[in-house]
Amino acid sequence: MLSSRSGRFRLRLLPRIIVFATVAYVLSWISGFPLQYDDEELPPSAQRPKPSLEPFPVEPDKLVVTVKTTAVDAFAKVPPMIVMTDGRYHDNLLFMGDLHMDVGIWHIFDVLDRYDRTFLDKTPEMERYRRQLDYARRSIPLSTIREEDATEEKEALRKLDKYKILRMLEKAWEMRPERKWYVFMDDDTYLARSNLLSWLGQFDNEKPVFFANPPSETVEPFAMGGSTIILSVQAMRSLFVDHEKLIPRWDSRLQARSSALDVIGTVLATETTLKMNNTWPSITGFNPNTIPYGPGMWCELMIAMHSVPSDLASDVFRFQRDREEFQHVRDPLSYADLWLHFMQPENLDKERDDWDNLSSGSDNAHWNILFEGVDKENNANRNQEPRAASGEESWESCRNSCNNSDFCVQWSYSSTEEPNYNLNPPTKCHLSRSMRFGSHVAPGREDQTTWTSGWRKDRFQAWAKQQRCKEQQN
Ligand SMILES: *[C@@H]1O[C@H](CO)[C@@H](O)[C@H](O)[C@H]1NC(C)=O
Ligand SMILES: *[C@@H]1O[C@H](CO)[C@@H](O)[C@H](O)[C@H]1NC(C)=O
Ligand SMILES: *[C@@H]1O[C@H](CO)[C@@H](O)[C@H](O)[C@H]1NC(C)=O
Repeated sequence: MLSSRSGRFRLRLLPRIIVFATVAYVLSWISGFPLQYDDEELPPSAQRPKPSLEPFPVEPDKLVVTVKTTAVDAFAKVPPMIVMTDGRYHDNLLFMGDLHMDVGIWHIFDVLDRYDRTFLDKTPEMERYRRQLDYARRSIPLSTIREEDATEEKEALRKLDKYKILRMLEKAWEMRPERKWYVFMDDDTYLARSNLLSWLGQFDNEKPVFFANPPSETVEPFAMGGSTIILSVQAMRSLFVDHEKLIPRWDSRLQARSSALDVIGTVLATETTLKMNNTWPSITGFNPNTIPYGPGMWCELMIAMHSVPSDLASDVFRFQRDREEFQHVRDPLSYADLWLHFMQPENLDKERDDWDNLSSGSDNAHWNILFEGVDKENNANRNQEPRAASGEESWESCRNSCNNSDFCVQWSYSSTEEPNYNLNPPTKCHLSRSMRFGSHVAPGREDQTTWTSGWRKDRFQAWAKQQRCKEQQN
């Protein structure tokens, strides 16, 4: 009796298990469904993990990321950086600066303590560092060491950076020798590690490789370039294994160099003949509000952005995490994805007052539309481009001028003439082929210039629809 009841029960149980399993499968399928469904793709749960297609796969523990910080910024910049770095990368995340400090359980290494006292005392550019040591010894709050003038503060830190860079490389090699790749970046750089790992997989780390994004080069808007530097293990060996005590030999030659990037570039070129390779546009000085979305950037991978405020970094981090961990999207994050996430939801139909930083500025020079009748002599390439009528009289005429130019996707009108940093003369009407979000500009700031800006999202979306990123990538 008992056994036959339990037998019947088992028979009923089986269909239930099947129903339950089906429901669980469907639920997991729905929760993993990508928001932007790409019809070439199977539902993510039906995809098998792709075998690595890269010839030189980089495992997460083979990438060492060294973040450069400074004593006065460390407590503001280091904690967000840690929070926005997935735990699986923490073992190879190093912080280096200009004073020994602890931020929670993380130590910030003072790499300038590697110079001897005599060198410190006789090097004028190390004045800030000497003062920091003095303040720390006498328990004077470090925040008071900052220069009041932002430019002077930047200058003081730029000088220290020249002395930090080689010592950072040296320290990273001592702490994590013989990994595959070494990244050195600023404390306000957003790094998309999964993109970086797969991108690096194209390159043989057993060859000397040196990537960086130089801050300025003719037309291309490297203008806001930071100083992300990527070296292969072979490039690191050429400095620390092939040569004995190479770094100290450069101490006295650092003063003549202009920046940290100049230091590392010169040392590698002189000691190893290794030249820098460009990483534009995957590593740029833009952030989601300043990226000039459009031709030349749309399909490209975003690997790193510089000068990203923490709140914006957090938005990008959450977006990337949602895509990868919850929607299981395996395509690397591109600028097009950032546009869809950050700009498409914005209502850009109406012009905005007190709004700028989109069409003016040297970093947009490349995308500004030239006006009819400007100098036709010295730039053959740009003379091929369609021109626009100027719209100097009012923001309405500037908007018209944009409406009447097929390639114009945004305009900004300034109350005073401002440069476009290209063949255009100083102008109030700034027209652009790229689309940027920009930012609110409080009226009545020091220069009294006011701004009104507007977009043509419909036109931009029509353009975007014609781009075929999948085929262009890889
Ligand atoms: C670096 O640039 C040189 C010259 O353009 C090129 O030949 C080389 O393949 C590049 N190396 C890498 C790793 O991209
Ligand atoms: C320019 O185009 C926008 C959007 O299509 C439209 O709202 C606006 O009225 C146009 N302006 C003129 C002057 O045609
Ligand atoms: C606009 O961008 C420039 C650099 O391109 C920056 O110096 C300025 O502070 C920005 N203005 C605003 C309001 O964000």
